[in-house]
Amino acid sequence: MAARAEHPVFARFFHLLFSGPAQRQLAPVRSELVASLSGTVLEVGAGSGLSFQHYPPGVQELIAFEPEPYLRAKAVRASSDASFPITVRDGSAESLPLEDDSVDAAVVSLVLCSVQDLDGALSELSRVLRPGGQLRFLEHVRSPGSRMQRAQLILDRSGIWPTLAGGCHCSRETVQAIQQASFAIEQSRIVALGPAWMPTNPVVIGRAHRR
Ligand SMILES: C[S@@+](CC[C@H](N)C(=O)[O-])C[C@H]1O[C@@H](n2cnc3c(N)ncnc32)[C@H](O)[C@@H]1O
Repeated sequence: MAARAEHPVFARFFHLLFSGPAQRQLAPVRSELVASLSGTVLEVGAGSGLSFQHYPPGVQELIAFEPEPYLRAKAVRASSDASFPITVRDGSAESLPLEDDSVDAAVVSLVLCSVQDLDGALSELSRVLRPGGQLRFLEHVRSPGSRMQRAQLILDRSGIWPTLAGGCHCSRETVQAIQQASFAIEQSRIVALGPAWMPTNPVVIGRAHRR
């Protein structure tokens, strides 16, 4: 079954929240996520393009995919303010219309929780990354704490969280999935984002490279 790309209510809520109060808290984290990247960079699930302003000067070109129409239109608008070329395209992480080994780095920011096929998306990211190219990730993952983990599993398995949050899953073991795909984790650490009681905790920022 194809992923449902349109989440009009969630998309508007997300953009309102994340371009306002959350963006202030996220700004340094977004800068850290893309720090020192260079060359041709791919961002999948770019949302409304809130990360575009954080890319460093070494980036020559950014190819951004966003399947949700409302957010994609915002991303197109954000791309016009950038000092380097950004192409915003419709497309999903599971099927990237790019050549093998064609990008120097790939960025996912709060996206792997929402893709329909996590392993398929990671396999595509690995295919289009040049050997040794970095995957930069900022993702919320399954909590190690038993009470929070139980709540996350209930929210996901009941469909409550994916329905409320535009297809997001709060109990994914994303760092393990990155490792099990053809990536070697170089660094990862937990960052404090949002209230601790939210099921979207913990949040991990990290770097991996294609083996
Ligand atoms: C929580 S938002 C994060 C947006 C943006 N990356 C940011 O950090 O502001 C999740 C994004 O993932 C996108 N998304 C969902 N499923 C996707 C898929 N299969 N492939 C690519 N993007 C997807 C959504 O449309 C949405 O823009």
